[in-house]
Amino acid sequence: MHSKLSAMGVGLLVAATALPSFAAADPPGGDSGRGLEKSMQCVACHGYGGVTDNPTFPNLAGQNAGYLSLQLEHFRSGKRYDPVMSPIAQTLSDDDIADLAAYFGGLEQKVADKR
Ligand code: HEC
Repeated sequence: MHSKLSAMGVGLLVAATALPSFAAADPPGGDSGRGLEKSMQCVACHGYGGVTDNPTFPNLAGQNAGYLSLQLEHFRSGKRYDPVMSPIAQTLSDDDIADLAAYFGGLEQKVADKR
């Protein structure tokens, strides 16, 4: 039973990898260099390099790139709503999202020192 379930999990993972359009809109295959440039519009809230000590904003550095792109897609589509983040996501193209997810996802995960 248990092994059957994990085999199913692997099967789903393989399917999602082989058919990225199945997962959501855009797979995280972005360019982290372009993501770095685009991330300048995120610094004020999420901190330089995606780490902030402001508890209002989540850290982005080192978060799973697939998760990041999915959240941005959800903010953009309205599936996830935040009065601040949703309008920002609505300005992002599929390429922007892939690039930003590649950039933030590729950073070392960190927590701000002072809290
Ligand atoms: C004006 C402030 C502001 C700016 C600028 C901003 N964000 Fe956000 N962001 C937020 C807030 C607030 C949240 C938390 C929303 C919530 O609670 O659901 C958030 C959440 C997120 C999340 C979800 C994180 C998680 O852990 O689920 C992602 C991803 C994200 N932002 C990416 C970005 C990117 C990429 C940019 C730049 C293009 C950006 N944000 C610019 C305020 C901002």
